[in-house]
Amino acid sequence: HPAQYEHLIVSVPQPGVQLIELNRPKALNALNSALISEINLATAAADRDGSIGAIVLTGSTSRAFAAGADIKEMKDKTFAEAYSEDFIANWNDLTRIRKPVLAAVNGYALGGGCELAMMADIIYAGDKAVFGQPEIKLGVIPGAGGTQRLPKLVGKVRATELILTGRNFSAVEAEKWGLVARIFPAEQLVDEVVKVAQEIAGYGGLAVKAAKESINEGLLVSLDEGLKYERKLFHGLFSTKDKVEGMTAFVEKRQASFKGE
Ligand code: HXC
Repeated sequence: HPAQYEHLIVSVPQPGVQLIELNRPKALNALNSALISEINLATAAADRDGSIGAIVLTGSTSRAFAAGADIKEMKDKTFAEAYSEDFIANWNDLTRIRKPVLAAVNGYALGGGCELAMMADIIYAGDKAVFGQPEIKLGVIPGAGGTQRLPKLVGKVRATELILTGRNFSAVEAEKWGLVARIFPAEQLVDEVVKVAQEIAGYGGLAVKAAKESINEGLLVSLDEGLKYERKLFHGLFSTKDKVEGMTAFVEKRQASFKGE
């Protein structure tokens, strides 16, 4: 329910699509604890909601997806406090969402903003998007996956250069390196990503969830184990009504109607 969120705007722009807009525009959507908690609540709610098939995460204005973790909130935090509360551990909750999460990045995706985008399953960028991991300039390092996910996505050498210099990079670079799936004109970005999300939502939840799960599992294990995992999920899908419907529709030369069953 939208009213429960202070820093988010949550809507259903098309059937099956949960749009979650970060809405702390005065701080360029800096990610404080309250905002992260709300993202976790809203994505978990969308994950449970049977009418939702895909989630789109974006900023509420074209200036910023998110300009990073909230520096003002971190400035006076001590090691003892950070360690005892396990500061930012809950950021990873987003990676436990089983439905696809699509990030639509307009404007700044810096530091924790870039890391949040990398927790999504697919990143799309507006043509004026600016990415970066500038933490080195604050005397720290990326703490929410930047040193882990960026090398996997763009390669170790490139990621090391970006993280050690803190330099920003453009949507065009991000796309060239494989961090971003596609670039759209900034003003069309959210509509275009919602269209992709709607298409994915139309495939019914089971195969979509299994595909996401198999991809992510494969990134954690050896190729052999990953292939076995994939095959088990593939076999499992032969028990679904969606498999019967999808293959029957093909043979009957009609559009399939998936039910997520
Ligand atoms: C807190 C932030 C912020 C942030 C911007 N603001 N980024 N507040 N934390 N990360 C606030 C500013 O203080 C300012 O508030 C308002 O947003 C507008 O920002 P300006 O700087 O005035 O805008 P502009 O001149 O256009 O510059 C935009 C910017 C710059 C280049 C994005 O704001 C910037 O460099 N921000 C910090 C980027 C960064 O270092 N991010 C990494 C954070 S560390 P006031 O009240 O002054 O108007 C991090 C660690 C992650 O993310 C580790 C794990 C979580």
